Amino acid sequence: MQVHPLQRRPFWGKVKMNNEELSGDELREGLLAWFGENSRGLPWREHYVPYQVWISEIMLQQTRVQTMLPYYERWMARFPDAPSIAGAPEDDVLRLWEGLGYYARARNIQKAAKILVKEYGGEVPRNFDLVRKLPGIGRYTAGAIMSFAFNGDYPAADANAGRIFARLFDIAHPSGSKEFAEAVWDAATKLLPRGRSREFNQALMDLGSLVCLAKDPVCTQCPVSDCCAAFQRGLTGVRPVKAAKKVVTQIVRAAAVMLKEGRVLIRKRPASGLMPNLWELPGGDVPESISPEQAIKRIWLEELGIRLGPLVSLGVTKHSHTSFRVLLHAFLCNGDSPARSLETGPHMRWASLNELEKLAFPSAHRRIIKALRERLAEP
Ligand code: ADE
Repeated sequence: MQVHPLQRRPFWGKVKMNNEELSGDELREGLLAWFGENSRGLPWREHYVPYQVWISEIMLQQTRVQTMLPYYERWMARFPDAPSIAGAPEDDVLRLWEGLGYYARARNIQKAAKILVKEYGGEVPRNFDLVRKLPGIGRYTAGAIMSFAFNGDYPAADANAGRIFARLFDIAHPSGSKEFAEAVWDAATKLLPRGRSREFNQALMDLGSLVCLAKDPVCTQCPVSDCCAAFQRGLTGVRPVKAAKKVVTQIVRAAAVMLKEGRVLIRKRPASGLMPNLWELPGGDVPESISPEQAIKRIWLEELGIRLGPLVSLGVTKHSHTSFRVLLHAFLCNGDSPARSLETGPHMRWASLNELEKLAFPSAHRRIIKALRERLAEP
């Protein structure tokens, strides 16, 4: 009778998955040796400065490495340490974050930086529980910071690691389920090689982004395919089991640009909800029963007390979030500005084109501003 490769391997301590016995040492050694040869050269890995590790992890929470790298470089040039963020205007922090999305991350960094300055001499504390308590830091991020910055023995299984474990141990729970998360965390904890957590956790991340890809994994280049249950069973294409698709809602919105003596009317979004405290061109949702033009006129009248005159289209831009897609209709007010008596203040003001560059806007609004600039530059 043919012996399944998974059953040939010596039992490796306490980990048992699906009643299969696997070689933990072989897995660990395979991953660590592979990382020694193939690790990605990333800036926060040069010296593993705790502050840099922390910022990189927050940026990477919802964003790919290639996308975040230029943001990371700009951030470190402007905010090289926690005290520099703690004392910065929030607008500057949000502007550096503009385009990365999930803006609560930037605001949490600033809140956490203030705590670091007040309580820990401006440094990231070398203590899991204290790190975990900082705003914006959950179990995964605390583990990543502790293992990367301090080589502490804490698991840090991100989506890449989750995919690897789902395949190695043929985890059949749908990704996104509580059972899946617990199975992954259990494997990450039990496999962790004491004293080598920094390398091991990063090995999982790099293997996940270079070899154990979501679509078409390159199993011929995998250092641990011998130990991979899904590979042995021909199941890599269906592991991890996909979570049920999220319903994506389509939203239509409208915004308008009003100019007065070369300045544009802008307002600040609320401090809670989507894209908190970013600036925007005033506008709102377009109800199904009316046109974007009718909607923008109604919104400006109801919310700003301004009766808009003739409008010129500045185009339509699209923007996607996790659970909805926005179609934004932009207009330029083409009549005389009736807004001289408009009450301005910290949440509503006239900004020059240069000032617009210094403030943070949702990406779709930034594109409208670009369209406006081009139109104004036309002869
Ligand atoms: N994804 C999340 N954290 C990461 C890290 N430190 N290196 C590479 N990819 C990551």
